[in-house]
Amino acid sequence: MENTAVVIMAGGKGKRMKSNLPKVLHKIAGKPILNYIIETINKLKLKKRIIITGYQGDKIRELIGSNIEYAEQSEQLGTAHAVLQSKKLLEFYNGNILILSGDVPFLTVNTLKRFLKYHRENNYTCSLLSAILENPQGYGRIIRNKNGEIREIVEQAELNEKENEINEVNAGIYCFERNLLFRILEKITPNNRQNEYYLTDAIKILLDEGVKIGNVLLEDYSEMLGINSRADLAKASRKVNQKILHQLMFEGVTIVDPASTFIEDGVQINQDTTIYPFTIIEKKSKIGQNCIIGPYSHIINAKIGNRVKIWSSVIEESEIEDDVKIGPYSHLRPGTMVRKKAKIGNFVEVKKSIIGEGSKASHLTYLGDAKLGKNVNIGAGTITCNYDGEKKNTTIIEDGAFVGSNNALVAPVKLGKASYTGAGSTITRNIPENSLAIARSRQKNILDWKKNKVNKNKK
Ligand code: UD1
Ligand code: CA
Repeated sequence: MENTAVVIMAGGKGKRMKSNLPKVLHKIAGKPILNYIIETINKLKLKKRIIITGYQGDKIRELIGSNIEYAEQSEQLGTAHAVLQSKKLLEFYNGNILILSGDVPFLTVNTLKRFLKYHRENNYTCSLLSAILENPQGYGRIIRNKNGEIREIVEQAELNEKENEINEVNAGIYCFERNLLFRILEKITPNNRQNEYYLTDAIKILLDEGVKIGNVLLEDYSEMLGINSRADLAKASRKVNQKILHQLMFEGVTIVDPASTFIEDGVQINQDTTIYPFTIIEKKSKIGQNCIIGPYSHIINAKIGNRVKIWSSVIEESEIEDDVKIGPYSHLRPGTMVRKKAKIGNFVEVKKSIIGEGSKASHLTYLGDAKLGKNVNIGAGTITCNYDGEKKNTTIIEDGAFVGSNNALVAPVKLGKASYTGAGSTITRNIPENSLAIARSRQKNILDWKKNKVNKNKK
């Protein structure tokens, strides 16, 4: 693109968040705040991209990676001081510098393009974005003279009563010509109630020098919402979530109650699937057609086929094929594969296992490191004893096997094709095909026991 560099300020701790984590690393709808603006500027093809880091900068570098430049602000002395830290990296650069904040996530590519074009075509050396807000509290205000020309920006902490009523706010987004920017930054002093170097003071200094300031008023103020508190974070998450849900509904997914459904960006859901209330779907989950998901389900990074029913269950990093029924109250842990037409029922936990086509574990079971063939039936209360205290061992259950209720299958162990086990068995040895294994002590009936007991007491 044009000769523009970008500086993103992300050095602050975010005092209003009351957190040990840097503000820009808090998540909006599952994605760190800073990632939103980075994704936007990556679409602009700028000459240079610089992030100002300060508080726990190493964490920010770790998240964003090394294909962007960083300038360190060792003390958080204010936004003017933050931008000044990029001077070295921009020493031999000549052009415009776009200044953005890491905590303003919803700016669009179009708005930034329009802003840069305006700045360039009108030959400004400094331009800023502003917006009219119904509730301007917390933002710096744009002060204009009688002729409607910008005079200065006054920060919330410095406002007098009259200025407090102004509802045109500074979006915190600027474009400066390089030499002008660094010359003006040196002139800013921390002479204010917060003892900070306010970048916004640049405007008054420039106007006093007779420099003309360009200004674009944002049509959609929601683009400039800044995230300063946990309440802002919740509001922003809701906004992003509703946008995702509306897109899914547009694509033919029924969301029964958008107010209680949370679906992250990047999740794919196909047509005619219905999502019932109190359901959360995260990471890169993929869900096919005509599924019924929820109520009360949590799906994390799962791949789910067509016509699958998941009711009140938790699915983590697992794959589920077509026509499977899960739940209520099932937990599929990472590495599980459930093949076609299988059923995982009430209070069943499955970990790192393959459940073959048409197989059923309907009640109260733990299957860990197990490989089930086709049409296996697992009786209620079956437990694979997969851990010997040192390592995990595998249980193999071949096609058509029938495991009686309340079995303990002590791994490593193999149950052959069409084998059977008696209820209450503890299976420690392999079972050959078509055989029945009973591994429990025989029942002994003591005849007339009660009668004899009563007679004994009488004597
Ligand atoms: C700032 C503007 C305000 C504007 C608002 C828009 C100033 C003085 N005020 O206020 O006019 O309405 O944004 O959202 O610029 N940062 C650093 N180092 C510092 C201080 C801040 O890197 O020493 C970073 C923060 O991490 C943040 C950004 O700069 O990403 C803005 O700082 P913040 O304290 O949130 O400024 P606001 O009070 O929101
Ligand atoms: Ca802010």
